[in-house]
Amino acid sequence: MSKPTLLTNISQLLTLRGAAPRRGRALAELGIIGDGAVLIRGGRIAAVGSRRSIKPAREARRARKIDCGGGVVLPGFVDSHTHLVFAASRAAEHERRIAGATYEEIARAGGGIQNSVRKLRAEREENLLAQARWWLAQFAAHGTTTVEAKSGYGLNATSELKILSILKELRKKQPLEIISTFMGAHVVPPEYKKRPDAYVELLTKEIIPRVAAEGLAEFCDVFCDRGAFTVEQARRVLIAGRACGLVPRMHANQLADIGAAELAVELHAASADHLEKVNERQIRALAKSDVTCTLLPGCCFHLGLPHYAPARKLIDAGAVVALATDFNPGTSPTVNMPMVLSLACAQMRMTPAEAITAATINAAYSLRRAERIGSIEAGKYADLAVFGVRDYREIPYYFGVNLCRMTLKRGAVLSGA
Ligand code: NIG
Ligand code: FE
Repeated sequence: MSKPTLLTNISQLLTLRGAAPRRGRALAELGIIGDGAVLIRGGRIAAVGSRRSIKPAREARRARKIDCGGGVVLPGFVDSHTHLVFAASRAAEHERRIAGATYEEIARAGGGIQNSVRKLRAEREENLLAQARWWLAQFAAHGTTTVEAKSGYGLNATSELKILSILKELRKKQPLEIISTFMGAHVVPPEYKKRPDAYVELLTKEIIPRVAAEGLAEFCDVFCDRGAFTVEQARRVLIAGRACGLVPRMHANQLADIGAAELAVELHAASADHLEKVNERQIRALAKSDVTCTLLPGCCFHLGLPHYAPARKLIDAGAVVALATDFNPGTSPTVNMPMVLSLACAQMRMTPAEAITAATINAAYSLRRAERIGSIEAGKYADLAVFGVRDYREIPYYFGVNLCRMTLKRGAVLSGA
């Protein structure tokens, strides 16, 4: 077995040890160890503690040492909501929005998701793969070690499967863990504009069974919102997915309240994402459930919208809250999880500690991986981020600047060092 590794000279080690998921006040418990050390063996965490408690161990003495420069070490970010594979930016739409057009107006005129679908269908697979791979390296450079990625810019069997196969290929070609979600129900493609239910039928009868049979996805997501899929259609898609072993997730209550949050609770979805437009009753129902409420403040920021999701109400009501980038070319073109933390603090009044919990252990829970990642505890994968700050609160405090000094995936150093 390869030589163990010892991380030392850590001003604050944020272990996030203990129960998962975190609700209410527990979101603020980071399990901080001052002057900490982490011993890694075979890609997993072997021991965690103060430098003084770890150093005398024989294994620690012969280990390869990594000096963290007095920085903060935390679990690698788990980005539980991205649309990683797309062909091109939508910078021209961004400019139209700045001039006053809304996201939905642009979508109704054939832009938005349809724009990305046209471009993806026409793009060569190797280019899509190369671009996604480049972005993954940027995720890693900002401290992210696990990325959920959705299909949804294909909207027919060939192109949806093309996206999911790219994700499969990427798993072999680069170190980050990629978790695949099938999202053929992103919007109704133009070919089915007049027959949305026929598209739902195609998804449930043909594409979903194929995706599941080929083992190409773990989750199934639906954009259940105004201008996308109705609650009834979303239910059909998610139930068909579940029958094939795909766990439901949802884009819910982003543009309007059409009852998507209730469907997430009804179906025991792993996650309900966005939630900018939830009401008090829905907040209570989500809080009582095991559905993770994944908030995506990058969208409101990029769309220039003033109403962020009610993070405080959700946390105070006892919901499982997570944070993610929603990396996509339409509403949130960022891979920068520390920036998402800054937005969560400044715009949604989450505390720095709550934001870190939401972007690590709670996000891991929403991806059904809280046993393996999301905290720094013996036995878990050594997925770690080292930040060049002395106090964890400085991570969201500085914004738009990358203070991640090093990222480790299963014990291997990916950047910095
Ligand atoms: O999460 N809301 C739906 N899907 C994406 C946007 C996709 C796009 O505009 O390309 C989101 O915001
Ligand atoms: Fe999204």
